[in-house]
Amino acid sequence: MSSVMQVLPSGARAFAEYAGLDAKTIHERTWDAKKRLGKRAVILGHHYQREGIVEFADFRGDSFKLSQLAAAQADAEYIVFCGVHFMAESADVLRRDHQSVLLPDMKAGCSMADMAGIVDVEEAWDRLVRAHGDVFTPITYMNSTAALKAFCGARGGVVCTSSNAAQVLEWAWARKPKVFFFPDQHLGRNTAFSMGVPLDHMAEWEYRVQDLSRVNAKAFRPETRIVLWRGFCSVHTKFSKQQIDEVRAADPNVKVLVHPETPFDVVRNADLAGSTEYIIEQVRAAAPGTHWAIGTEIHLVHRLALEHPEQRIQSLQKNVCPCATMNRIDPAHLLWTLENLADGVVINAVRVPDDVKRDARVALDRMLALKGSGQVGAAAHLD
Ligand code: 13P
Ligand code: SF4
Repeated sequence: MSSVMQVLPSGARAFAEYAGLDAKTIHERTWDAKKRLGKRAVILGHHYQREGIVEFADFRGDSFKLSQLAAAQADAEYIVFCGVHFMAESADVLRRDHQSVLLPDMKAGCSMADMAGIVDVEEAWDRLVRAHGDVFTPITYMNSTAALKAFCGARGGVVCTSSNAAQVLEWAWARKPKVFFFPDQHLGRNTAFSMGVPLDHMAEWEYRVQDLSRVNAKAFRPETRIVLWRGFCSVHTKFSKQQIDEVRAADPNVKVLVHPETPFDVVRNADLAGSTEYIIEQVRAAAPGTHWAIGTEIHLVHRLALEHPEQRIQSLQKNVCPCATMNRIDPAHLLWTLENLADGVVINAVRVPDDVKRDARVALDRMLALKGSGQVGAAAHLD
């Protein structure tokens, strides 16, 4: 993920060999490499990946389902993670000792995860705890670095994803009266509001200022139940209420279905809101002819449209861009990773340091234990 030039192990083939290959060659050689690897490698693909990657995935899922799948891979030596860095880190935390987790392009990061640095979060936490005492549970969205997951694990906290945020908040509030939630303010706000917490009892935490306590004064009020880090997803915050008004004006019967990383007024005005798996389930269960305007990453919306020709599926926003970092995992990078692997050279391994791993595992295990009974994708319905 760093901008420093990547150092490859000796014997590794360089990416330059792959950059100019034509699509047909890449496609054929990827199947060959996958066959050569057989059961030694399992490929996990997030729903936001492009078709040319998803085709090779042994399993597909949202971040919660993929973390369960990563934890369940007992045999494969290699888990090739077609998603973004924080997901591969989580898989590395959950993997068995004999396994390695590989991310085909180490530059596949996440701008939201980058918005919450461990030093800034520690500083905020110290101020909040100094002012309020031991009344907070820290919750980090899966879309965060392993260091933040470890921070939560070491302080009685937990990880959540968009498919279990309500259950995780419920768990936290049963233990302590307040929650410090990061990095995605929208998931936190939308979920807490759906659980009956008024906006007045929520405070944002602005981290890009000098005078933290003055700017964040609301976070220190006694009635505040949840403090929301001011992070956001650059993809999901492109959706707006105006787009909803426009699709409804064009077709009053349209059903608006959005991800909870979208802003508050988008979720409040949508018909349905939920995690990636929840979105997929709603479309699967709908009657033929249903018209959907969907507010989430465009690769998933396109795939749903292809898989459900009996329905009318459009993106809530016209001309929406894909998630740039998810999109870094392209066929050439996947082939580069698999061929090196098939030749016995491990490149692009994501390795979380052992001390971070230990505490991050505590926070991830708490989440997995909370919701381990087949409810994958049963998102908090935010109506
Ligand atoms: P989920 O996979 O939890 O729906 O999260 C969406 C997302 O933004 C992944 O980066
Ligand atoms: Fe990060 Fe948003 Fe992309 Fe997910 S969709 S990886 S949250 S930038």
